[in-house]
Amino acid sequence: MPDTTLTARIDAITAEITEDLIRIRRWMHENPELGFEEEQTSAMIRGELDKAGVEWKGGFGKTGICATLGGGNGKVIALRGDFDALPIQETGTPPYASKVPGKMHACGHDAHTAILIGVVRVLARLGALPGRAMFIFQPAEESLGGAQAMLEDGLFEHCDPDVVLGYHNWPLIPAGTIGWHPATAFASTDSFDITVTGKSGHGAHPHLSKDPIVAAAALITGLQTIVSRQVAPLSAAVVSIGRIDGGTARNQIPDTVRLEGTTRSQDPAVRQMIREAIGAQCAGIATQFGIDVAVDFFHGIPPVVNDREILDPVLDAVRDIIGAGKVTELPQGSMGSEDFAEFSTRKPSAHLRIGSHLAGHETMLHRSDFDLDETCIPTAVRALSLAMLRLMERK
Ligand code: NI
Repeated sequence: MPDTTLTARIDAITAEITEDLIRIRRWMHENPELGFEEEQTSAMIRGELDKAGVEWKGGFGKTGICATLGGGNGKVIALRGDFDALPIQETGTPPYASKVPGKMHACGHDAHTAILIGVVRVLARLGALPGRAMFIFQPAEESLGGAQAMLEDGLFEHCDPDVVLGYHNWPLIPAGTIGWHPATAFASTDSFDITVTGKSGHGAHPHLSKDPIVAAAALITGLQTIVSRQVAPLSAAVVSIGRIDGGTARNQIPDTVRLEGTTRSQDPAVRQMIREAIGAQCAGIATQFGIDVAVDFFHGIPPVVNDREILDPVLDAVRDIIGAGKVTELPQGSMGSEDFAEFSTRKPSAHLRIGSHLAGHETMLHRSDFDLDETCIPTAVRALSLAMLRLMERK
């Protein structure tokens, strides 16, 4: 049974602070900063935490901050929000458009920060908490390095959470709703560089050379069979070559061709299999063409996989406060990546999609005309505040 007194108090506090949270979001939108350079943003957040009377410690991942609240005997529940912007020139013209040329909050991390500050304020005003709340203000999500940098600076030694919750605004569902994925919410991402080294020569005498361009072409075609022939059809995966570089003249066979690519998958076993298959393809091409194929594989971010033991009580709380009809199961996880995975692979976790579609404005994350419906902010504050309180009370 929902505790209607508690939900009413959360709703009332949220209603009081919403205008100010929107002011914070708009200030951030006007003043975007890129990953690990978020000095003004970090100072603004620290100021807000001081105003809320909440303890905090900075210096995690340069500009990252960890705030803590409450001393009850229950669980330690962390909530993570990111605050970096993107190197994109804003083309939209809202009254709060970016004032910084070439930089923009095109992924809505400005709203994520307003939401996190909102939850801090709600829980601070509720008084004694059944457990302890931990608020992770994270830099540099876009470059996928901020979460790891915070952990390397001792985030979990400073405060060791039992559970970590994450969220991202999602323009594909209406504002006022919250979406969720039953298992994988975001894909893993890895990258690789391949150098194909042959022997240069005149284009008229290919038999006197070892042509890396023809070998690279065969390799690219072969790599596309990994997903189509080796990954199960219902398992999502991607292998993409995004850059190819080789040759200087039309009649000269070069010594080397360099390829750069990225892989995505939703399943750790598939992720490993793809890595091995790329290596096998490179070895096969080397033998076939009698040339050298070197591959450097860069381990990236694991998939974000929701923990049902955490997700289910979170969803119960979200339904109790925003209404069951506003909570939607999303059929597929994204093939994009989220470095929330650095937390979710270490602790039981759940990740929610906060509906942010702005009616009449068809856009998407990372577009230069990106904007969102700011009513997503109070919706998320209410839902996440109750979810954290419920999780603190769990055995
Ligand atoms: Ni984002």
